[in-house]
Amino acid sequence: MIKIGIVGCGTIGSSLGKAIQKRFSQYARVAYVSDIFDEQIKKFRKKVINRSILEISVKELVEKSDFIIEAACPDVAKAIIPKILQCHKQALILSVGGVIQIKNLERLLQKSRGCIYIPSGAIAGVDALLACKGASIKRVRITTRKPVRSLLGAPFMKKAKNELNKIRKTTLIFEGTAEQAVRYFPQNINVAATLSLAGVGSKRTLVRIYTSPTYRFNSHEIEIEGDFGRIHSKVTNIPSEENPKTSALAIGSAIATLGKIFSRLKVGT
Ligand SMILES: NC(=O)c1ccc[n+]([C@@H]2O[C@H](COP(=O)([O-])OP(=O)(O)OC[C@H]3O[C@@H](n4cnc5c(N)ncnc54)[C@H](O)[C@@H]3O)[C@@H](O)[C@H]2O)c1
Repeated sequence: MIKIGIVGCGTIGSSLGKAIQKRFSQYARVAYVSDIFDEQIKKFRKKVINRSILEISVKELVEKSDFIIEAACPDVAKAIIPKILQCHKQALILSVGGVIQIKNLERLLQKSRGCIYIPSGAIAGVDALLACKGASIKRVRITTRKPVRSLLGAPFMKKAKNELNKIRKTTLIFEGTAEQAVRYFPQNINVAATLSLAGVGSKRTLVRIYTSPTYRFNSHEIEIEGDFGRIHSKVTNIPSEENPKTSALAIGSAIATLGKIFSRLKVGT
């Protein structure tokens, strides 16, 4: 029985806790949780009814768990991944923006017997991009459209003094690399980091973010061009009811990744 530790008991952490209990209880159980807010742990306990779950510090959680789920924020991912790899543990990381900010990631991975799983998230095309590796890839671009309320609080908005409530029409608010996007929109654009890791890296993966008062859903359009041909995908996501920054499909993708880890039949690249 694999002992799972979850860091971050919010929308994704608690959905994964429930899924582990409902779908994967023959392989694993949630043994430990950690969150900066007690209230979040209380809510988690209500959703995932299991009296034996212990609340411990992030450091202890990494040491004691067999498998770690990070569903907190990019700074947490950045801080715990080196420790996870040094302890030769396995982890599922949701705050992917934190992963691409780790300078010596390649070296840490080489020295470790542990591993890091990154779900595709709320986009379609990661499997195809992985299959293109080895081919010459000329361009990877993601165009994201988000309702105004999904972007509230992003550091970029403060920096650009861009007042979201004054936006009246469809507006391109950011254009740059994935490396820049994850710093300016740490809670919004994890999928750009995921694409970077699957493809040509965070300096060559291009990102555009649009918003509009008329947008109701998050959508992600991916364009990949290379000597293999062209890939174009578009996903329109329903935002999760608890957290409009997170799409329901992102939660489904993380559950599917856990399913792939535990299953003997592993479908998809
Ligand atoms: N990879 C993807 O496709 C994808 C998709 C959506 C969201 N995300 C990311 O996953 C993470 C979780 O998303 P969510 O929707 O569950 O967010 P959420 O805000 O609902 O939950 C985050 C939880 O983490 C806790 N937390 C924050 N800082 C912490 C810290 N330092 N230590 C411990 N706990 C801490 C918060 O209190 C909260 O309970 C976010 O970083 C989000 O950007 C990734």
